[in-house]
Amino acid sequence: MILLIENANQLITLQGTMKKARTKEEMSNLQIIDNGSVLISGDLIIATGTKASLRAHYPDLVSQANIIDASGKVVMPGLVDAHTHLVFGGTRENEFQMRLNGATYMDIMNAGGGIHATTKKTREASFEHLYEKTYEHLNDFLKHGITTVESKSGYGLDWSTEEKQLQVAKKLQENHEVDVVSTFMGAHAVPAEYKNNPDAFVDIIINEMIPKVAEGNLAEFNDVFCEKGVFTPEQSRKILLAGKEHGLIPKIHADEIEPYEGAELAAEVGAISAEHLLVASDKGIRDMAEAGTVAVLLPGTAFFLKADSARGRLMIDEGVPVAISTDFNPGSSPTISLPFIMNLACMNMGMTMEEVLTATTINAAYAINRGHEIGSLEEGKKADVLILDVANYQQLQYFYGMNHTHTVIKNGRVVVENGVLCSELQNVTD
Ligand code: NIG
Ligand code: FE
Repeated sequence: MILLIENANQLITLQGTMKKARTKEEMSNLQIIDNGSVLISGDLIIATGTKASLRAHYPDLVSQANIIDASGKVVMPGLVDAHTHLVFGGTRENEFQMRLNGATYMDIMNAGGGIHATTKKTREASFEHLYEKTYEHLNDFLKHGITTVESKSGYGLDWSTEEKQLQVAKKLQENHEVDVVSTFMGAHAVPAEYKNNPDAFVDIIINEMIPKVAEGNLAEFNDVFCEKGVFTPEQSRKILLAGKEHGLIPKIHADEIEPYEGAELAAEVGAISAEHLLVASDKGIRDMAEAGTVAVLLPGTAFFLKADSARGRLMIDEGVPVAISTDFNPGSSPTISLPFIMNLACMNMGMTMEEVLTATTINAAYAINRGHEIGSLEEGKKADVLILDVANYQQLQYFYGMNHTHTVIKNGRVVVENGVLCSELQNVTD
């Protein structure tokens, strides 16, 4: 199947020769082609360029192509969400009410709610229930233009439930159009059973769970919630290094609520990314810049927890490659709207609209080790393409809190048309 997207008002390619996440002024270079075209064959991009150049260089392919007219619209790479807690049982709107009345996120967690409440619901939920519920969430992601999603386990905190979550993510990766990239996060909280002996739980993660995750090929990454009252930097270091020995790439929830030298630890262990970083220290930021650790910033979580956002502006100026993600989860960020989160990154972190586009495409792809295949529109990359019903990319952020997705092409196939999932249209005609 050959597809040709033509007449885009702006074609945002994010093409580049650098083979790593972008930093500093590289983050502002969107490589825009006016009146741009994208030629796709099968699931890959063949070329991008002006309408005239593609028609001149690929006359045979163009003559066989199905044409998508993107007049008046913006064409860009599919969005990448590099940080979600995708698979979970239940919801926690009751805690939102408690927080509106003054309770803090950690108070609620320490009283047995928060992650513990979702753990209980996730343990109780059947595989089928979790699969169907998460399938619907992925549909929503796709409708908002997100074509790849990272998914963390961590609402089991026992092997059978952690495995259930990871298996749900794996089956979704096989069956849903959205690509699901898996992270093991057994170290998301110390379960109530080990409250008085957290080191025993750390030992179980290291000696039992991590080897099983690696053996079953159930995840690529290993994440830890390094936070006062959860896992200490020492425990986090042990868990991340143990994962590394089994081929799991380290990630870390760092310096989210209280400064805890999580950013420093990320750089030290060679983590691919450090996430949250609301209260990361100056030294931690410098260490990350030096190590090339991607900062996955989550301004929706700061918004929903009524906290100050991470210092995104400073991080970029210091040379840290920055990505922006939703942190979709039932407690601190129950939204799949990455476009809204992009607006928050502009409003609350001093990032420019250009930087935010880089942070949700190519840099987010590098945060999950996919920079070589997604995140920009260039020859040989996966044909994951988003067509937005806006006249220029600034309008994506300016008309905020709205879904501007018109068409989504995933692996070279149109999966959303006119804002509607093609699979849903099929169900209507069936
Ligand atoms: O990224 N901080 C830890 N984990 C999640 C929240 C999980 C939850 O509250 O269920 C986060 O914010
Ligand atoms: Fe998170």
